[in-house]
Amino acid sequence: MITRDQLNEKLLKAQYAVRGPIVIRAQELETQGRKIIYCNIGNPQALKQKPLTYIRQVLSLLEYPELLERPEVLAQYPKDLVDRARMILKKHPHGTGAYSQSVGIPFIRQAAAEFITKRDGIEAKKENIILTDGASKGVQAVLLSLLKKENDGFMIPIPQYPLYSASIDLYGGKQIGYFLDEANGWQLSEAALVQSYESAKKSGINPVALVVINPGNPTGAVLSKENVQMIIGFAKKRNIAILADEVYQENVYASGKKFHSFAKTFSELNEKDLTLFSVHSVSKGFLGECGHRGGYLELRNVPNDVLAEFVKMQSISLCSNISGQISTYLMVAPPQPGDESYEQYVKERDGILNGLKRKAEILAEGVNKIEGMSLDVPQGAMYAFVKFELPIPKGVDPQGMSETERLAFEEERDTAYCMSLLEETDICVVPGSGFGQLPHTLHFRTTFLPLQEEIETLVAQLKKFHEAYTAALAVQ
Ligand SMILES: Cc1ncc(COP(=O)(O)O)c(C=O)c1O
Repeated sequence: MITRDQLNEKLLKAQYAVRGPIVIRAQELETQGRKIIYCNIGNPQALKQKPLTYIRQVLSLLEYPELLERPEVLAQYPKDLVDRARMILKKHPHGTGAYSQSVGIPFIRQAAAEFITKRDGIEAKKENIILTDGASKGVQAVLLSLLKKENDGFMIPIPQYPLYSASIDLYGGKQIGYFLDEANGWQLSEAALVQSYESAKKSGINPVALVVINPGNPTGAVLSKENVQMIIGFAKKRNIAILADEVYQENVYASGKKFHSFAKTFSELNEKDLTLFSVHSVSKGFLGECGHRGGYLELRNVPNDVLAEFVKMQSISLCSNISGQISTYLMVAPPQPGDESYEQYVKERDGILNGLKRKAEILAEGVNKIEGMSLDVPQGAMYAFVKFELPIPKGVDPQGMSETERLAFEEERDTAYCMSLLEETDICVVPGSGFGQLPHTLHFRTTFLPLQEEIETLVAQLKKFHEAYTAALAVQ
């Protein structure tokens, strides 16, 4: 039998906190009959968010096209969606069970390009769109293709979504963390970018690209236009590509805040040289179709021979899954005014987005009432990165520790806190150390996806738990 030590060391090194030991324990508790509130992962439909009806109606007709021959069945579907299903089958006659072109079904790539043009008022080309199995595969394609030498690295935010750290480890690259500015609503700071870039260079690491997640996971921040401009200027000066993770672009709640895409800002700055990769997904926004694994990668300012290599890479795994591609199509080309399905689409979309906004507020309001905890109301995405403090037990002297010892002590503390929270309250969150955090601070990440009443319960239980936990530590 194969043993663990025979496995690729890069795989052994990779860590993925969002589904780490705390979640494994939560699943064990669940099998023992406990009712866990899973706040560890942005998986909306697992937390009772309903799928948008129009998506499922079209998919149902395409998965079982015989339905299109049954008038009594079609009478239950809005006419525009039946027409859409027929149109899709005409353009992709083999249906959902056959491979498509490697980079995706052409008319869907065209629709994605038109979506970008409509969103940003800029030119977008179908040839530069690759349909992927969720945004994750688009991100991984970029990471893999840019890691040329052993010392090549990616600048990634701290805190970050661990897809980045884990995939970079998996592919044998270097992580170059840059701190997000918590005191400034988690925006990027030029000083932090410069500091991280320079120190990487000094230690012989070659930054090849800068990853930006906007709106942020785990921070819930929405970057200002000036911030996006600053980031482009920074990357331009050093000629490093930008990988913009824009999967939460529909999830902006704070009034006065707006999503500013990198593509649009590139165009406004007339940037024609610097390379931009951006990803989008059906998993987030208001669709929450995580299980359908749909998304796209757009490449800007890349020569044709580079594009050809990305096409080749995609062809190695044949193509992304077809129902994911169709879900992506339905995301970029939703029902329009005048369509029979439009009213219900708008009602469902707005219901989900308004609910998320409300839940973000309830969470922040409740957390800020807990002594030793703080949180700005998340402006976007689906997460809150809650800062908390714990008393130092008697006899422990963090100041006397080496930096490595102190970091290990802190990591152990936020993990123990989250594990204890789970054991005591059935609430499953992820320790801040799984995403990275400023040394000597403690955080945990929670989603605000559960139902509103569950968020209210969560806040109340969190308060009780935190008070008891800190009181117990104080007397140790
Ligand atoms: C910032 C970010 N990027 C990418 C992904 C992956 O999305 P997908 O399901 O499209 O692969 C996630 C998932 O949570 C995410 O938070």
